[in-house]
Formats: sequence, structure tokens, C-alpha cells
Amino acid sequence: MTDPIVYLNGDFLPLSEARVSVMDRGFLFGDAVYEVIPAYGRRLFRLDEHLTRLDNSLRAIRMENPLSRDAWRDRLQRLTECCPDDDQSIYLQVTRGVGARRDHAIPSGIEPTVFAMATAMTPPAPGTYADGIAAITLDDIRWKLCNIKATTLLANVLARAQASDEGAAEAILVRDGKALEGAASNLFMVANELLITPPKSPLLLPGITRDLVLELADTHGVPWCEAEIHASDLAAADEIWLTSSTKEIMPVTRLNGEPVGNGRPGPYWERMTALYRAFITHTREEHPDA
Ligand code: PDD
Repeated sequence: MTDPIVYLNGDFLPLSEARVSVMDRGFLFGDAVYEVIPAYGRRLFRLDEHLTRLDNSLRAIRMENPLSRDAWRDRLQRLTECCPDDDQSIYLQVTRGVGARRDHAIPSGIEPTVFAMATAMTPPAPGTYADGIAAITLDDIRWKLCNIKATTLLANVLARAQASDEGAAEAILVRDGKALEGAASNLFMVANELLITPPKSPLLLPGITRDLVLELADTHGVPWCEAEIHASDLAAADEIWLTSSTKEIMPVTRLNGEPVGNGRPGPYWERMTALYRAFITHTREEHPDA
């Protein structure tokens, strides 16, 4: 069995040797934030955008970033070089660190725990993009600071489990009648030849893939807007997509057991996914850190 090299608190070491204290607040309280960054051809994709979001998450939980941007770049790049695969997914996590005792109060002067690992980017099973996935809508039971990329993901985990129980791959979370995002993805819909995604707010994660989709829509003249999406709008949508760094742009072709549009990935998805893939290819070949 392979024992990949991971990064922990300044050291590069085999995963089997990486140890974190049980007194770590990440373990005891979920007092931690994270990022998932793709690397295509070992080039970190949208690294600056991910590190800016990390800064925002840390600020929101009253932590300073333990590493400079250059230090992050250096360490993450080194991790990509340790991984045998060209296309990777980099997970990083910063916890508040190890307290002397279990206490909700934030202790002063403790060292954050910094962990990162690179794993092969596993593409979805063949045919997944061509057929699209099934999704369900679910009541959003998460807290009200979903813009923070916090490791406390139990509500998301349970939402995904319920989706799976119902034969679906993802849950679209609905709060006060408004569809906000997936359990681990952002939401887009196409209706009346317009691409629509909910505006950024504390109730959803500001996805890096989401922003790139909007950037590509701008550059290539695809009409789009940010607007609230009501759960009932989804039932009438021509297309629904879910986006994330690991799933890219995933078409949803069944929602709550009913076909979305004609039940096949639609022409807007075809166009946007081609633009997105072309952007990745360009990055892989020419532009480090695009
Ligand atoms: N999750 N919304 C939620 C709740 C997410 O967890 C994610 C990504 C996204 C999409 O964000 P981005 O485009 O920056 O990946 C939206 C990652 C992939 C995860 O938790 O594994």
C-alpha cells in the first residue's frame, strides 16, 4: 500500500507517521477551516482565489493565517511534486491548535495545526457527465455562516447520506423556500435562456468554480445573473448544474425523481463545460497558477 507524503506543521512526512493530538481543537470542536484546491498537470488551479477564501475563513473565526502566501504556494507546490498523479486534489486544513484542556473559550497563544495532502483527482464514473446526476431538495439545517469553509460538515454529511438513501448523488439545500447550494457544490439553473445562480451571502459558500463559471460566461457572452432561486423554480428549470473544484460542472438531470428539462444535459451545460475544460487545458499547458 502506498504511503503518500503529507504536510504537517512544517514537516513533509509519510501519512502513516502524521499525528495530531486528541486535544486539538479541530478534533474536539471542529474549530478549523479548510480548502480543496485542484491541480491540473501539477499546476495549482486558482490558487490565489483559494488562498483569499482561506484568509476570509480564518478572519471569520478570529484566526491569523499561520503562513504567508508564498509559504503556502511553496509547500503546496512541493506536495504536488510528491504525488504520482498529474491531476490532483489538494486538501488543506488549519485548526486553532492544541489547547491545554477542553474549553470552549478560545485560548491565547496556541500554535495552529496546519495539515495538507495531495491525492489523485478521481474523475466521476464514466458516463456521469454524459447522463447527469440525480439530486434531491432538502431543508437546509446548517448554521448561518455557510460562507466560512469550516470543517464542521455534519449537516452536509447527513444531507449527502439522505440523498444517497433516495438514489441521488447530491442534495440541494433549501432555506425559507430558497435553493442555495448543494451539500458540497454551488447551484446554477438555466431558465428562459438565462444562467442564474444565487447571490453570495453568508448562507452559501462563495465557490471558486462558481466564480470561474461566471467569469467564463462574461468573457464568452453567455447571459447570466445572480438572483434568488426558489425551490419551485427548480422544478421548471431547463437545466440545473452543480459546481465544485472536484466535480467541475455537473449537470443534474433528475430532481426529486422528475426529469430536469428533457432529462439530458442541456446545450448551456455543453457550452459551459467545453469553455471550462478549455480553460483547464490552457492552464495545464501554459499558465502556472491560473
Ligand atoms: N466543497 N458549497 C459547498 C458547501 C462546498 O462544500 C463546496 C466545495 C462548494 C464549491 O466550492 P468550490 O467551487 O470552491 O470547490 C460549494 C469541496 C470540494 C469539499 O468540501 O470537498
